[in-house]
Formats: sequence, C-alpha cells, structure tokens
Amino acid sequence: MYEIVKKEWLHEVIFLIEIKAPAIAKKIRAGNFLVLRMREGAERIPITVAEYNREKGTVTCIIQVIGQSTKLLATLEEGDHIKDVVGPLGKATEVEKYGTVGIVSGGLGIPLANLVAKELKEAGNKVIGMVGARTEDLLVWEEEMSQYCEEMQYCTDDGSKGMKGFTTHLLEEKIAELAKEKKKLDMVFTVGPTIMMKFVTQITKKHGIPTIASLNPIMVDGTGMCGACRVTIDGKIQFACVDGPEFDAHKVDFDELITRLAQYKNQEKVALDKYEKECGGKHK
Ligand SMILES: Cc1cc2nc3c(=O)[nH]c(=O)nc-3n(C[C@H](O)[C@H](O)[C@H](O)COP(=O)(O)OP(=O)(O)OC[C@H]3O[C@@H](n4cnc5c(N)ncnc54)[C@H](O)[C@@H]3O)c2cc1C
Ligand code: FES
Repeated sequence: MYEIVKKEWLHEVIFLIEIKAPAIAKKIRAGNFLVLRMREGAERIPITVAEYNREKGTVTCIIQVIGQSTKLLATLEEGDHIKDVVGPLGKATEVEKYGTVGIVSGGLGIPLANLVAKELKEAGNKVIGMVGARTEDLLVWEEEMSQYCEEMQYCTDDGSKGMKGFTTHLLEEKIAELAKEKKKLDMVFTVGPTIMMKFVTQITKKHGIPTIASLNPIMVDGTGMCGACRVTIDGKIQFACVDGPEFDAHKVDFDELITRLAQYKNQEKVALDKYEKECGGKHK
C-alpha cells in the first residue's frame, strides 16, 4: 500500500499526487514510468513521474481525468492509499550532451517532459521548451519546467497563451529562426498526443534532426508479458513498456499506433458509464 501524502487540483480535470514510495524515489529517472492499481481487481494504468524527492522518499505524478481509472484515482485524498505502485519501469532517457535540444510537448506534455528537461539541462544542454495545450489553463506546471529551459515557447488552440496554433508551428518557427543565425536544434524530444508526435517527426525528418518520441500505447502489465503495448519500430515489433517508451521517432510506425490506441474506445466508454452509474457521480 502506498500513501498519498499530498494531493492538489491544478485544473478541474488535472490533479497532482505525491506518493510515499522510497524504493522507487531512490531509483527513478527521466523516461521511467510507474504502473498504478488503485484497489484489488482494478485496472492497471501507466503514469509518468513528474518529479521526485529522494530524501523524502516521494514521487509526484500529475494526472488528467479522462476515464474510469483516472476518475477512481481522483477520488483518493491525502492519507488514502494506492494498492500497488510498480516501478521504475521502462528504459530511462538516453541523456548526453547533444547541444541545443528542443522539447516539444502537448496535451499533458509539461509534467511528462519535466524530468527529461531537468536531466538534459544537468548534462549541459541548452533546452528550449515548445509547449502547447488547447487553452492556457491546461498549461499546468509550466513554472516547474521553465527552470530547466533557457527558453519557453507556448501555443494554444484558442490563442489564450502564446502563439495561436500548434506545437508544430512553434517548432518550424524555431528551426527557421535558428537557421537565420546559422544555428540548429541538435536533438528534439517529443511527448504528447500521438498525432502531434507524428507531425513533429515529419518536420524533424525533413530537417535531419535526430528525434526521440515517448510513446503512449495501451499498457497492461508494464513488464513485457502481455503484448498490449506492441509498437513497430523500423519494421520490427517492440514492446514499449520494456524496450521504450522512448524510441527513435524517425523509425516509429505512428499510423499503426494511432489505430491501436483507438481500438478499445467502445469498451472504455462502457467501463466509464458503468463506473459512473455505480458511484452515482460521487467523484469530482
Ligand atoms: C508510459 C505512459 C505514461 C503515462 N503517463 C501519464 C501521466 O503521467 N499522466 C496521465 O494523466 N496519463 C498518463 N498516461 C496515460 C494514462 O495511462 C491513461 O490516461 C489512463 O490509463 C487512462 O485510463 P482511464 O481508465 O482513466 O481511461 P480510459 O477511458 O480507459 O481510456 C482513455 C484513453 O486513455 C488511454 N489509455 C487507457 N488505458 C490505458 C492503459 N492501460 N495504458 C495506456 N493508455 C491507456 C487510451 O488512449 C484511451 O483511449 C501515460 C500513458 C503511458 C503509456
Ligand atoms: S504492457 Fe504488457 S507487454 Fe508492455
């Protein structure tokens, strides 16, 4: 059992939890993730660690409420316990001194990219954050990631913060701006909606910029046993939970991933409807 020592709502559908998990906090690195199971018989869900505190023995996760399991997790309060927290899982980010690195993140991207930005900065890279969301209020935790980025560029679908448009526009502008100064991005790291990562990858391929994408397939066990997280990389099958979740973006079959992510939509809706009926809408 893992105690929630802090809980804070950052937006009406996004909350932060700090979990007491000393063994995980000791080893966690950027790129790793956890698998949480809220109670006996509940679904397992993969969640990234947005920050950790090795001294306190805690890990911080930021969660967007979208379906049955994230709604169930949202009902837990400070002092409550999560039945299982397994991790660190997956391969850690390959951090080295690349030079100038662009981090392109969207959706719940900032918390997902925070530790990557931190470790890249610590390795001596110049980190440029290019971050997008539908509206300004969904850009949670921006001040955290800003401390690791020399520059933060924002965009929103409605123009409420930064450029009105998508992260791909930010990336193209940054590449053009650097080119005028005879400079370039030496590496791009991208995390967020799969469709966004697909288009980011098309741009970086065109400009010959090595790119790492953090993939988000459906995961069940998180240990390479069930096959749920199968992705195709360079024509070969890989399991994102053990071989990734970060891969050379130029080799990822994004169209297959997009199709696979959509295949359980009906079951997810049925599960959510059943849960809402059972709990009588008591969750937030
Ligand atoms: C490596 C990794 C790290 C992640 N980190 C975070 C994070 O830090 N914060 C966060 O809010 N979300 C994160 N996610 C996504 C999170 O796992 C899903 O939002 C969650 O599982 C949805 O469950 P649900 O029952 O609430 O929604 P559902 O209604 O079951 O599903 C809604 C959508 O969530 C995705 N999803 C559902 N089940 C899974 C699953 N078992 N594995 C992966 N994706 C699933 C699918 O795209 C699905 O269409 C991460 C996913 C991966 C793969
Ligand atoms: S989640 Fe089961 S093999 Fe990756």
